[in-house]
Amino acid sequence: MVETNKIETLRWVGGFDGHLVMIDQTQLPGELIELECRDIDTVFEAIQMLRVRGAPAIGIAGAYGVLIGIQSDFDSVSALKIQLARTCDYLAESRPTAVNLFWALNRMRRTPDEFPTDDVIELKNALLKTAVEIHEEDRQMCHAIGQHGADLLANVDSFLTHCNAGGLATAEYGTALSVFFTCHDRGRKIKVYVDETRPLLQGARLTTWELMQHGIDTTLICDSMAAQVMREGRIEAIVTGADRIARNGDAANKIGTYSLAVLARHHGIPLYIAAPSSTFDLSLPDGDGIPIEERRAEEITHGFGRPTAPEGVHVYNPAFDVTPSDYIEAIITERGVIHEVNEDNVLSVLGIC
Ligand code: MRU
Repeated sequence: MVETNKIETLRWVGGFDGHLVMIDQTQLPGELIELECRDIDTVFEAIQMLRVRGAPAIGIAGAYGVLIGIQSDFDSVSALKIQLARTCDYLAESRPTAVNLFWALNRMRRTPDEFPTDDVIELKNALLKTAVEIHEEDRQMCHAIGQHGADLLANVDSFLTHCNAGGLATAEYGTALSVFFTCHDRGRKIKVYVDETRPLLQGARLTTWELMQHGIDTTLICDSMAAQVMREGRIEAIVTGADRIARNGDAANKIGTYSLAVLARHHGIPLYIAAPSSTFDLSLPDGDGIPIEERRAEEITHGFGRPTAPEGVHVYNPAFDVTPSDYIEAIITERGVIHEVNEDNVLSVLGIC
């Protein structure tokens, strides 16, 4: 297992004509390899193939990707704006569920209206500033989520999490994992069980790696063991991230989260979602409208290369599911905790009403 003191999931190198460097997460935990993105197709492929993944990190990669898509010379601001729109439309096709991607692309799209100018270089610099702000804001949101979560869960010592909502999925520190890191930083001895997270093993490959780097007591289980582990009384609370949260608090996250929520209710264990305000999609009244990404059959039939199913078998591979709001004990955001998850409380904690 490779070790690093500081994980920098994504970084932008240079000015508006620079390039994006990201950790290639498909190679972890075996190898820590950085991927340089100097053209828009490389960024698109990196998002689609989960070299960069996790809702906030996809948004940040999308914002920097836009900069790469507008690096040619333009003889007018209107020509630049046309290419900006094209680039945003293209990157929006890379993955459908995490709303942070669309949120970040929309901020890039709006930048010319917020910084009106006739100068191409000035507009490119304004777009760079927006992308850097998106990155920096995420860093701050993650740390704030950790503080709120550690306050809320001050008396919980044993957790379960699913997929990876850590530093690798964000600018830094993560959402669900930020809660654990912050508990640990406060000197608390916590224990975290991690679902391996079929089929792409983000839990086994990435979350255990991050937690162990931080010195947290970490135990890996297969997804199918969660019920037994709960029944044995080993879990006091479940904390996961989210990819898109509707107005009423229904939350999409990695496939298997909804199963955990149902199991948690049966065993009387609270399930918390930790997510920044950029993960809320207030245009959707509830989770029914959240688009669920369907991924390639090979992720199941040829897990990491070797065939594990008969050729020609029918496969259904939804990458996310939606946990209804009434299965969620609370949502931890950077603006505070949404207790009793419903539309009024979502809007009030987000400061919309
Ligand atoms: O398919 P992935 O690996 O991008 O899925 C990621 C998740 O489901 C995370 O839990 C979610 O994006 C929250 S990341 C802070």
